[in-house]
Amino acid sequence: MLAIADIATGTGIWLKDVSRELGTTATQCYYHGFDISPDQFPKNPGNIDFSVHDITKPFPEEHRNRYDLVHVRLLVAAIEESEYKVAISNIYAILKPGGFLQWEEVDEETYTSNDNPVIWEIRRCFELSYKAEGKCFQASAKVHDECIAAGFLDVERSVYSSDRDDSLRLDTERGLATLIETLYASLLLRSGQVDSEEAAIRQAEKLIKQHWQLCDNGNSPPLKLMRVVGQKQLRGSSL
Ligand SMILES: C[S@@+](CC[C@H](N)C(=O)[O-])C[C@H]1O[C@@H](n2cnc3c(N)ncnc32)[C@H](O)[C@@H]1O
Repeated sequence: MLAIADIATGTGIWLKDVSRELGTTATQCYYHGFDISPDQFPKNPGNIDFSVHDITKPFPEEHRNRYDLVHVRLLVAAIEESEYKVAISNIYAILKPGGFLQWEEVDEETYTSNDNPVIWEIRRCFELSYKAEGKCFQASAKVHDECIAAGFLDVERSVYSSDRDDSLRLDTERGLATLIETLYASLLLRSGQVDSEEAAIRQAEKLIKQHWQLCDNGNSPPLKLMRVVGQKQLRGSSL
């Protein structure tokens, strides 16, 4: 049986997608979602087990050497730079020998554009806020380096840009507007760049307006998802 875990799973959306894809094959699968908070766990989890767990803490014994694939997505705003090492060592411990880690992030490289001022404003705000909070804006490079240090094999970091497929354009534009409304606004406030929630909302609304104007004028920004993949050694692990 194939065992797949998703850490920082939120609603479990990634596991649901994977289980739908693999549901059409003959492979038997076990799915487990972990998150530091149960708030977004679905009321009807179906074929997925969920449990509360902080990635920076060792996983319970029953999960050790259990998973063929461990997936992580979008922890950049949650964990501190100093916590990546222990997070990756905890993941290493729950992978089967030969199992794979796949970690996806939006980070510094996501927000690059030659001529889009909205992207540069998001980048400026995130850089300042992450630095103030001890977070790592170069998250995928950090994951890559810590995976190598932990003894993962064939560690690769790749970039998936939304402009590779024109059908992603509208979703990318909407996704960026949501990101400005949520994370951008909250980071403005958290890092003291504005002094009230109302001011953060106003500044975010202004940026969203500018974003849609640029999109209307044909300056729709591509976004990049960074992905790191590595394999646990079959034997002789360094951990
Ligand atoms: C931006 S959401 C991403 C959710 C999901 N991975 C996705 O791609 O839809 C970040 C999630 O990380 C969880 N989280 C934050 N810190 C965590 C930690 N130390 N260990 C485990 N989960 C954590 C939050 O509760 C939240 O559900």
